[in-house]
Amino acid sequence: MIHRFDFLVIGSGIAGLSYALKVASHGTVAIITKKQKAESNTNYAQGGVAAVMAETDSFELHIQDTLATGVGLCNTTAVETMVKEGPTRLKELIDIGVEFTQKNSKLDLGREGGHSVNRIVHARDLTGQEIERALLAKIASTSNIHTFENHIAIDLLTEHHIAGKMVLDRSNVHCWGAYALSELNDTVEIFLAKVVLLSTGGLGQVYLHTTNPVIATGDGVAMSYRAGAKIANMEFIQFHPTTLHDSGSPSFLISEAVRGFGGILRSQDGEEFMHRYDKRKSLAPRDIVAYAIDTELKKRGEDYVLLDLRHLAADQIKERFPNIHNTCLTKFKLDITKEPIPVVPAAHYSCGGVVTDIDGRTSITGLYAAGEVSMTGVHGANRLASNSLLEALVFSHRAAQSSVEFLKSYAGSIPEVNVWDDSGTFNSEEWILISHNSLEVQQIMWDYVGIVRSDLRLERAFRRSELIRNEVETFYKKTKVTTGLIELRNLVVCATLIIRSAMKRKESRGLHVNTDYHKRDDEKFLCDTVVD
Ligand code: FAD
Ligand code: SIN
Repeated sequence: MIHRFDFLVIGSGIAGLSYALKVASHGTVAIITKKQKAESNTNYAQGGVAAVMAETDSFELHIQDTLATGVGLCNTTAVETMVKEGPTRLKELIDIGVEFTQKNSKLDLGREGGHSVNRIVHARDLTGQEIERALLAKIASTSNIHTFENHIAIDLLTEHHIAGKMVLDRSNVHCWGAYALSELNDTVEIFLAKVVLLSTGGLGQVYLHTTNPVIATGDGVAMSYRAGAKIANMEFIQFHPTTLHDSGSPSFLISEAVRGFGGILRSQDGEEFMHRYDKRKSLAPRDIVAYAIDTELKKRGEDYVLLDLRHLAADQIKERFPNIHNTCLTKFKLDITKEPIPVVPAAHYSCGGVVTDIDGRTSITGLYAAGEVSMTGVHGANRLASNSLLEALVFSHRAAQSSVEFLKSYAGSIPEVNVWDDSGTFNSEEWILISHNSLEVQQIMWDYVGIVRSDLRLERAFRRSELIRNEVETFYKKTKVTTGLIELRNLVVCATLIIRSAMKRKESRGLHVNTDYHKRDDEKFLCDTVVD
């Protein structure tokens, strides 16, 4: 089946939905999303959206906090753009019906690590769910937008897929859509469009322990890489310091806002330890807190540290963090108002991704990217808490504006594309290999490419992941596609991109700590890591 639209949006999180709403008055829009439409990282966001909304705050302060947290690698223009346009984008969310928490008729502003003032706009601890709800409601009442659930994009359509043209010149690629597997009727469909937005989110599932839901398999980065797009800074994987120990998969997040509210990190014997790592203690940026916890656990031979809220008023904890309180109580039999919370770090966010300019353009003509899949340059070597939802809002808006301009100036027609050809492939009996291989990749990444790395570990990870990547590619060519196989193929591509980027950066900076190079080296590495 061939679908034809003006705009194709891949992914239905905050970036994809915001973009779709903005381009819908300029043409027809298809949103394809691999599971149910709300299923996204966005839907699980707890802490909130960082934005300068208080009179006591300023753009300068938010810019400085973002740049300092990014340890020298942020793109200053992108950061300034995000911070200055943030409040307007946030007010648009309020206008479409997002109900953020208020106190005395004003937005209640929370605090998180690395922020010098309270600036986190939130809907108690269910911020993402509230944003997703309101955006989907608005989409439902907007004509011109067609949402295709249970459609997983397999690959982007480029020159490579035009009938008869098999040569791919990586410096001059155009995107006209995507192949997508419909899980409903088990067929591969073609989505053709003049403009494509990639908004497929993150890749936390590359790691054994992650806060990310199962959809976060790095599909956007892997598809773009295969299509020839510029990818950068993949070594900067953010580990969230505080997820509930032994909470299953995905790991249950204990929001940084809990520390902003007064929660204190302690070792199991009750000792506060964060002062040894940073004067901001439990509210230092995430790279520092995650590293500190990892170091303490290794030093003490323990499995978790504690996040202690017992000194805070129980009714206020329940009011501010209803989701965390209820989930801990009902699912894990832990009363966080009375007992300290056992916490460990887990993979949370990808600072790197598909390189874009500040208008969302990738290096492929007709392909835009926004949200976690993109690398706009705002996060540098470490993302400031709650800057992700903000980045997605600001740059999806800018991508929408430049896409509309692109559409207006687009004179060409969409070429004929090869139909999906799976002749010669078979239904494998060996599906168990897929889950085994995924687990193997996740284990390798967790063991060798985690919070603390070394050259030896990275080399070991590289050899093992390359072997799996080759095996998976061979299997992929011979087998009928399934969601599991598509995701495994993408996971292992992302794993190798992370490892190769980490091997290139022979220093320690932000989220990339390598014990063979203890210091930051501005002379050689004050630059992005581009993988080709
Ligand atoms: P997502 O919201 O992840 O959406 C991606 C979409 O793409 C999904 O619909 C997915 O199904 C779809 N998709 C993926 N691959 C394909 C494919 N091949 N084909 C079709 N569809 C596909 N950030 C903050 O700023 N503040 C917070 O408080 C915060 N809390 C967080 C809490 C948790 C538990 C997690 C996991 C993340 C949190 N983050 C937070 C990070 C933030 O939520 C994400 O970075 C952000 O929501 C990403 O938005 P997105 O639109 O780029 O991607
Ligand atoms: C959290 O609530 O701790 C997550 C915030 C973020 O990822 O920015």
